Amino acid sequence: MLVFVPPHPLINHWLAIARNAMTPPSIFRSTLGELGRLLIYEAARDWLPTFSAEVEGPVGTATVEMVDPNQPIAVVPILRAGLVLLEEAKTVLPVTNTYHLGFARDEETLEAKMYLNKLPSQFPEGQRVLISDPMLATGGTIVKAIDECVSRGAKVSDIRVVCVVTCPPALTVLSDKYPGLRVYAAMIDEELNDAGYIIPGLGDAGDRAFGTE
Ligand code: URA
Repeated sequence: MLVFVPPHPLINHWLAIARNAMTPPSIFRSTLGELGRLLIYEAARDWLPTFSAEVEGPVGTATVEMVDPNQPIAVVPILRAGLVLLEEAKTVLPVTNTYHLGFARDEETLEAKMYLNKLPSQFPEGQRVLISDPMLATGGTIVKAIDECVSRGAKVSDIRVVCVVTCPPALTVLSDKYPGLRVYAAMIDEELNDAGYIIPGLGDAGDRAFGTE
């Protein structure tokens, strides 16, 4: 499995804002959106299906390369916070279909339980899938989300995961289970605490984005 942590001062800047416990929900949300945009830009770099064409410009003909409108990227936000991370995806990816997945964490077992699944029954052959969840902590939720996509025909090598912060336990689970997977993160933090929070992490990203507790 490949983990990309793009070394970029803008990613570091927005991560610093997200890390600050004093950042209010509205700024936290726009910050996650900005991080999502930058990380999706990186994830899309060598991945988008394109085609060549000739375009008549004002003073000449140019050979151009464009994103193929017939092969939309399947964007899979994991509710709630994954939605915020993908809010800006449409400014980066010209053609997408969005399939929501809802998971809630059982605070006692720390197990992720799915309560919403809007994935299609079958993905077309070669479908590229972008899954977003800002916090890859134990890896439990993302593993279930990937399994749902794979059971509908997506290949692991066609799946990319965008998160903000991850940590060794999640990465170990993912690399054991999905050798061909690519993960894009702003930072790999050191550890998980007993409550399943990434340390230093961002706290509960969903609660911070929506101002809930
Ligand atoms: N989910 C979060 O929102 N934060 C964590 O630190 C771990 C899981």
